[in-house]
Amino acid sequence: MMRTTVNENERTWDLLERVLRKPYLQTIFLTGEPGIGKSYAAYTLATEPGVAIYAVTLTEDTPSAELRGFFHLKGQEVDFQLGPFSEAMTCGGRLVINEVSHAPPEVQSLMYAVLESPETARLTLPDGRTIRPQPGFKVILTDNEALTMLPEAIQDRVDAHFEIKDAHPNALALMTPRIRRIWQTSREVSGTKRLSLRDCFRLQNLLQDEDDFGLDDACYAAFGPKRGPKMHEAIVLMEAAR
Ligand SMILES: Nc1ncnc2c1ncn2[C@@H]1O[C@H](COP(=O)(O)OP(=O)(O)OP(=O)(O)O)[C@@H](O)[C@H]1O
Ligand SMILES: [Mg+2]
Repeated sequence: MMRTTVNENERTWDLLERVLRKPYLQTIFLTGEPGIGKSYAAYTLATEPGVAIYAVTLTEDTPSAELRGFFHLKGQEVDFQLGPFSEAMTCGGRLVINEVSHAPPEVQSLMYAVLESPETARLTLPDGRTIRPQPGFKVILTDNEALTMLPEAIQDRVDAHFEIKDAHPNALALMTPRIRRIWQTSREVSGTKRLSLRDCFRLQNLLQDEDDFGLDDACYAAFGPKRGPKMHEAIVLMEAAR
């Protein structure tokens, strides 16, 4: 079974941070299982003061106009409202596009223009303006799927891509020793569904409230009636084996 060593994980996170600081690496792709910390990293790592962050989560129904910009009525006047794509481009912001593999065809086409390198990226908006990405503009794509699941034209526009296999050292540092052991065991033992960071912090909050919740109650509350008892049993076994 594949195991990520601590060093390999720290190296990945460190490299991602250095890559995010490079202005010539515009489009970064992050893949990894749900709740491993991709979006959190995209919003917080290597952020520069004053650089605006735009975040969108795509679904099959996301209209491209919402992302590009659209006309709307402002009092009696028709006004053009930029969307997160055009706004991030014009202000040199950081645009985070979550669940990018869900992009419908129209949004994919818009992304071809937006993810173009700074020399060639142009977007003509419905109000007639043609905008270009301003210095600082960066796009971070996140998805549970691998890069190869994206259309080739998008793959080709990705400047650096990372597979996140374990939580960021800062997230691990927020865990109590007990929760960290549970986290690590859930990643090493096959069979039980791996915990997400959301699961871990949920369980940690419940367990810190020890007057009210024992391990069994905490598991039941955090993981529900089906998974809860199984998780409880797995944790009891794990802790007894130590
Ligand atoms: N570096 C971190 N420090 C502290 N908490 C973190 C960190 N990374 C992630 N978390 C916690 O874990 C939760 C899940 O992280 P995040 O939303 O980034 O996961 P994700 O990989 O984007 O998941 P999904 O694939 O479901 O979108 C966050 O809401 C946050 O509470
Ligand atoms: Mg996410």
